[in-house]
Amino acid sequence: MISRRTFIPRSDLPVAAARPGSGAAGDRSPKEPETATRRDVIAAQGPDAVAMTLTVNGIARMFEAEPRVTLAEALRGALALTGTKIACNRGTCSSCTVWLDGTPIVSCMILAVDVGNRAVTTIEGLIRDGNLHPAQAAFIGHDAIQCGFCTPGMVMSCAALLDRDPRPTRDAVLAAISGHLCRCGTYPHVVAATLAASEEAKS
Ligand code: FES
Ligand code: FES
Repeated sequence: MISRRTFIPRSDLPVAAARPGSGAAGDRSPKEPETATRRDVIAAQGPDAVAMTLTVNGIARMFEAEPRVTLAEALRGALALTGTKIACNRGTCSSCTVWLDGTPIVSCMILAVDVGNRAVTTIEGLIRDGNLHPAQAAFIGHDAIQCGFCTPGMVMSCAALLDRDPRPTRDAVLAAISGHLCRCGTYPHVVAATLAASEEAKS
């Protein structure tokens, strides 16, 4: 019968987190199971800055940051892409929305070190060949901005919607921005702008 005591030392499962100081070669705790090999141990990182590479807006960007740094903080800090806003910093307002492999996500809820090879797109990256994304232009045209703090995140979600559904319904727009909090109450203008940017409006 396999008990927890016999299973864990023999398991081929990778260790989820190494004890501090066990990451370096030859620096393994003597209490570590003898059967554990070096490849089984995920090296502890931090608390000091570590080298990272993120693909942001189609460009591989190398920088150093502490492993505790979120994607939002890395974008605004190390990468100086301040279009992404941090408001609540706890995943409730969506102000920090960026795309990860084309899908809108809140960037304050993922560590930069966990992004890996996935493509990050920020509000700055929506501009193509010098032209604003239709959602960006429509937000300006429909005055869908007051203080502007929620605006980049709103644009990222509305642009993603338009890219996957060029003729969204009003309900689809409302669903796309349902996680976004705007203290200034720009919602009617945001919906009008997104519908105006749709192919339906242009036909
Ligand atoms: S700042 Fe990220 S969800 Fe509010
Ligand atoms: S425009 Fe001010 S929070 Fe939305």
